[in-house]
Amino acid sequence: MPKTVFLGSDHAGLNLKAALVAHLAAAGHKVVDLGPTEATSVDYPDFARLVCRNVLDTPESAGILVCGTGIGMSIAANRIGGIRAALCVNEYLARMTRLHNDANVLCLGERVIGAGLAASIADVFLETGFEGGRHQRRVDLIESCGLAAPL
Ligand code: RB5
Repeated sequence: MPKTVFLGSDHAGLNLKAALVAHLAAAGHKVVDLGPTEATSVDYPDFARLVCRNVLDTPESAGILVCGTGIGMSIAANRIGGIRAALCVNEYLARMTRLHNDANVLCLGERVIGAGLAASIADVFLETGFEGGRHQRRVDLIESCGLAAPL
């Protein structure tokens, strides 16, 4: 089912973000590229915050964050309450983090994986639903642990 997908990157994730924007738009998703638009050096937490704010404000949406490794983006995004960001390097991780963690943000590293694999990971992430049940209790525990900073 088509989704609204918010994308953001830093300078090191710019090319992979562009490839994903084209891929996901062609697949019929509503794609919102929140930047940056140029390769000038920027700070990834700024774009993590921007994408996460939009995901939290838009029901049923998802976010994709790309930096060089995907690690900085995932650390930054996971500081925000209500965001469950997963750094994935294969489709198995993308599927499991949707099924079990109800992840709402996918993090990818442009210096780690190619555009073809990244597109396939994004497809699996967007098409897989949350399993609920015992996993809902665990997600609720994550959200109640009280460590998240306000936006
Ligand atoms: C930028 O050089 C790089 O540090 C950033 O893209 C990311 O990989 C950080 O985790």
